[in-house]
Amino acid sequence: AKTQLGINVVDKGNHRHFMLKEIYEQPDALSHTVSHYVDLAKGKVKLPADLPFDFAKLNRLTISACGTAYYAGLVAKYWFEKYARLPVEVDVASEFRYREPPMDKDGLALFISQSGETADTLAALRYCKAQGQHIASIVNAQESTIARESDIVFPILCGPEISVASTKATTAQMSVLASLAIAAGRQRGTISEAEEFELVDMLAKLPGAITKALASEKKIDQISHELSKASDVLYLGRGSLFPIALEGALKLKEITYIHAEGYASGELKHGPIALIDETLPVVVVAPSDPLFDKTISNMHEVAARGGKIILITDEAGAKSAGDDVHEIIIVPNAHAFVMPIICAIPVQLLAYYTAVFMGTDVDQPRNLAKSVTVE
Ligand code: AGP
Repeated sequence: AKTQLGINVVDKGNHRHFMLKEIYEQPDALSHTVSHYVDLAKGKVKLPADLPFDFAKLNRLTISACGTAYYAGLVAKYWFEKYARLPVEVDVASEFRYREPPMDKDGLALFISQSGETADTLAALRYCKAQGQHIASIVNAQESTIARESDIVFPILCGPEISVASTKATTAQMSVLASLAIAAGRQRGTISEAEEFELVDMLAKLPGAITKALASEKKIDQISHELSKASDVLYLGRGSLFPIALEGALKLKEITYIHAEGYASGELKHGPIALIDETLPVVVVAPSDPLFDKTISNMHEVAARGGKIILITDEAGAKSAGDDVHEIIIVPNAHAFVMPIICAIPVQLLAYYTAVFMGTDVDQPRNLAKSVTVE
């Protein structure tokens, strides 16, 4: 859309909210992001020629970010450790900056931020710079302060994100992080050329998988009517899906004001199981990956205590989940590597439709700002 002066403005198009528009932009946005970072014909990740560090020489990667961007960093920890055998520390920037941790010289510090202006993330960056770290950032706003103060910027290229609740920026950030983890694996010799080819192919297929995941919209809308009656919701996930459980809980809190908690499935018995009764919906994010059986056994413990399970899984997972599932949301079949990105879609939609049903201000939730530039 354009103003009378012919200037491009961002509008909602045919969507009721920016958040829904941005959720629906994800197949295109990710296709754009992925094609910037991978050479599909060669099946390789493209790294900038002027990369100021060498993954092979690193002993540690330190990631700092806030909110949803921090959860993207948590997913990346699983990827970098598995595919590049690189130890990763991830912290919320507001803790990291005051902890003032010791750092070996020439380490790599990575900052993730949609806006590039988040005060705590910027302070963490400046601390790392003073500690002699290489500074890399993954940002959407390429003119931002975080981008300017970085040695290298990996843009997420998803276009402007207006909704306070981040959606397309999150999945685009994860796509960049996945590409970098593959590149790190190659430089460190921990993945073969054939493995790189396969992983790149999975990234290339992401936009199609996201489109399929969006097809659950109607089912999710229906589930959201029931969810809107809850006063608390628990989200469970394991491995790289644990951060998606955290993300699901954050999205729901942000725009519906329903209290929600994300937990690692294995922590259930260490506390949260005490909350479970027939009034508590439990969203379990568990595609049929190597950890599926463990999470499903946690899920049965929830069901045995009357908890209402909303399971997010793929077709194989749905077949073997058993009868005590209240609702199932199906995501397309895909390798465990890309599942965190795919499973982000149903948790976004679940929060969105619950908020719409409750009549909250989806794009401008109370008390929240899009960019937190003061502590
Ligand atoms: C996401 O839905 C949130 N609104 C919030 O957690 C956000 O991700 C956080 O404030 C970080 O913002 P940034 O990516 O602009 O640094």
